[in-house]
Amino acid sequence: MVFDSLPAERALEILRGSFVVTPASGGDPAAARREVAEAPGPTVAPLAMVRPDKVIQPGSSDGFDPPADYDALRSAAIQCTRCGLADGRTQVVFSDGHPDASVMVVGEAPGANEDRTGLPFVGRAGKLLDLILASVDLSRERNVYICNVLKCRPPGNRNPLPHEIETCSPWLRRQIELVRPRAILAVGTFSGRLLSGRDVALGKLRGQVYTYQGIPLVVTYHPAALLRNPRWVRPTWDDFQLLRGILERS
Ligand code: URA
Repeated sequence: MVFDSLPAERALEILRGSFVVTPASGGDPAAARREVAEAPGPTVAPLAMVRPDKVIQPGSSDGFDPPADYDALRSAAIQCTRCGLADGRTQVVFSDGHPDASVMVVGEAPGANEDRTGLPFVGRAGKLLDLILASVDLSRERNVYICNVLKCRPPGNRNPLPHEIETCSPWLRRQIELVRPRAILAVGTFSGRLLSGRDVALGKLRGQVYTYQGIPLVVTYHPAALLRNPRWVRPTWDDFQLLRGILERS
């Protein structure tokens, strides 16, 4: 992997410089990626304890059973009217990347850019996510599938409501069953709590490996949170090393 040769501190500088503090790589993601690819270095993080599946998992109490064929699932989801978010959306944001990807990234909910384009993580936070993924040799073009807990934008970008998460989560559950990635990366509190089944703060969720449906799951900070708070870049880096460790061992 490309990242085998990048010292953690340098990568942190790249991430901070491009998006948060001062431009190393001139603030240019392509330059940062080149720098990642060319840098010498690194260590492999130890794999943390794998915990058993927890009790709370995505699913709906109304018995809704989404299609078990990927194309049928997508067609059904993009016409979904199962909750009130359908009224305010421009379009359903189902996924980006490959359905046969090795890593599945699960975010929170579409924002304005995603609602307009129909693709997850296309704004500033998405660009940061792409850069961090690239630093561990992952990209939506090659080996990453990206989606969200909610498929429709909550008005004014408010937090997802519990009933929206419950109503929407059968889509996510089926996506995970069909994509069957080698690892899941939950970014942010809502996906982290949903998939780990633990109702605790993100700082307590991150830093370990869970399993969801037998698939290793890592929880980390949402890229939008990193843009606001550079202190979380370092723990995010550590979580990506956990992810990398899983991929190297599987
Ligand atoms: N934040 C998310 O959690 N998902 C997106 O698709 C965009 C921003």
